[in-house]
Amino acid sequence: MTDTAFTHRYGPLALVTGASSGIGTGFAEELAARGMDLVVTARRTDRLEALAARLAAEHGITVECLSADLTGPAAPGELLATLAGRDVGLLVSNAGFGLKGPHEANDAAAMAEMLTVNCHAPMQLAHGMIPRLKARGRGGLLFTASVEGLIGCPYSAAYAASKALVVSLGEALWGELSPEGIDVLTLCPGPTESEAAAKQGIDMSANPHLLPAREVARLALDNLANGPTFVSHPVYEAMFDKMRALPRREALSAMAQGMKRQG
Ligand SMILES: NC(=O)c1ccc[n+]([C@@H]2O[C@H](COP(=O)([O-])OP(=O)(O)OC[C@H]3O[C@@H](n4cnc5c(N)ncnc54)[C@H](OP(=O)(O)O)[C@@H]3O)[C@@H](O)[C@H]2O)c1
Repeated sequence: MTDTAFTHRYGPLALVTGASSGIGTGFAEELAARGMDLVVTARRTDRLEALAARLAAEHGITVECLSADLTGPAAPGELLATLAGRDVGLLVSNAGFGLKGPHEANDAAAMAEMLTVNCHAPMQLAHGMIPRLKARGRGGLLFTASVEGLIGCPYSAAYAASKALVVSLGEALWGELSPEGIDVLTLCPGPTESEAAAKQGIDMSANPHLLPAREVARLALDNLANGPTFVSHPVYEAMFDKMRALPRREALSAMAQGMKRQG
């Protein structure tokens, strides 16, 4: 799709959550390069403001920064209210975080926050955006899930379950909204360069299939019209296709061994 066709279909304005680092910054960069105006949101507004200044200077677009902590159940509604009357054609619901390890070792409060950020926020943002997109007769919803949402993932049980919800939400909305001219894509990244691994105490640097965040964002946007789901690396796409074709018990044993090896 040309940049003009892209901005006609999804523009003029995109809302990107979790834009202060990693894949969300990649989405903002890629959308700006296609000529989209942006509203970017996260907690670290210093990062957002630096990003906004850079993208506005590089691409001549407008970027508005909104501070939002999505652990607050009211935050998605507040974002939607702030954007009332604005012509947002694309929601990129990307903010999220993970917790790894034996399920019982995770902090209970952190798990509750993870559910709010990873599941409640995309569900509520989509709920508020859909009537606006239907009224325009075109646009898109893009959710960042994970390959871990495609099958139960031992030692990442709560995070994988949260991303399974996102996959299911995105698949169902794809069925509802495609006939209305609204594209819905659920991005399932494999290992991607971002701050996420360091935050979870994981070293992914030796992974030969690690992709740059901007590349993952570019691939997802290129495939926005090819929903319902998109796995960003062909090696992981083949791996998860193969695993999901196995008897479930066998697939889960393989996942458990793989996750144990990763520590
Ligand atoms: N990197 C990978 O290998 C990988 C693989 C599969 C899926 N994913 C998914 O990709 C998405 C982006 O993650 P990333 O890898 O790019 O990690 P990242 O660099 O840590 O970025 C996470 C983003 O989410 C935002 N965020 C986290 N908690 C938030 C909160 N309470 N309120 C508002 N925003 C919040 C962060 O902003 P602030 O901290 O500034 O608020 C940041 O912008 C996540 O949904 C993640 O689960 C990543």
